[in-house]
Amino acid sequence: IKPVNIAELRAMRARNEKIASLTCYDASFALIEDRAGVDMILIGDSLGMVMHGGNTTTPVTVSDIVYHSRCVAPHLKRAFLVADLPFLSYATLDRALDSSMRLMQEGGAKMVKLEGGREQASIVEYLAVRGVPVCAHLGLQPQFVHKMGAFKVQGRDDAAAEAMIHDAHVLAEAGADLLLLECIPAELGRRITEASPVPVIGIGAGASVDGQILVLQDILNISPLVTLGRRPRFVKNYMQGGVDIQGAIRSYVDEVKGAAYPAPEHCFG
Ligand code: KIV
Ligand code: NA
Repeated sequence: IKPVNIAELRAMRARNEKIASLTCYDASFALIEDRAGVDMILIGDSLGMVMHGGNTTTPVTVSDIVYHSRCVAPHLKRAFLVADLPFLSYATLDRALDSSMRLMQEGGAKMVKLEGGREQASIVEYLAVRGVPVCAHLGLQPQFVHKMGAFKVQGRDDAAAEAMIHDAHVLAEAGADLLLLECIPAELGRRITEASPVPVIGIGAGASVDGQILVLQDILNISPLVTLGRRPRFVKNYMQGGVDIQGAIRSYVDEVKGAAYPAPEHCFG
């Protein structure tokens, strides 16, 4: 089995093969996701919600991400491992470098992900020129929850959409190797992807992006959000029809590859 790397993600984009991604936090699911053909696995700071039961991602620490990365990394034969830089762990150049060093050297991550637009360009460049691959996360940024007050779809008006297109450009210029778009209109997802020199992964960003990512517990229909009746629009329950977990994850991968997911009902207009 050939491990997926950044060159392979670029090649997948070039040959129009959709990238299937999921979050993962432990060994049992790491083995299943890897065998099901998930191309990219994220140790998301969403673990603060699905593992720790918090209402936000802001209490998550670098040590938490390292801990869960160490549960996952040794079990991946193929999937590309990305780890989130948690809240304030990249607030300065030094912190960003120290945090990334831990995620890669202790956690085994091959790429780090951080939230923010053009204001993060200097951080992205600082990491990128030192050999740290970076994924820049645009659109809805859960680490900004306390500044924003609530989560909602981003980039709805023209000015916000243009600003996000510009952010994507600046971040790729700064050396980001991947972009992730969360909760934006499908049309804006299409425009950013078309203009982007690097692969673009979406969550609630429509069908025109180069790949999809979802939170594992959301597609298994067991996350607190789902249980408490607050399932986001883009989440699809893959446990329907009496499948087992292996089958559910395989069917998610198949639907991403076959462009059956996301359907219009999972997209923002
Ligand atoms: O933390 C996370 O799970 C994420 C994805 C949902 C993109 O950032
Ligand atoms: Na995250």
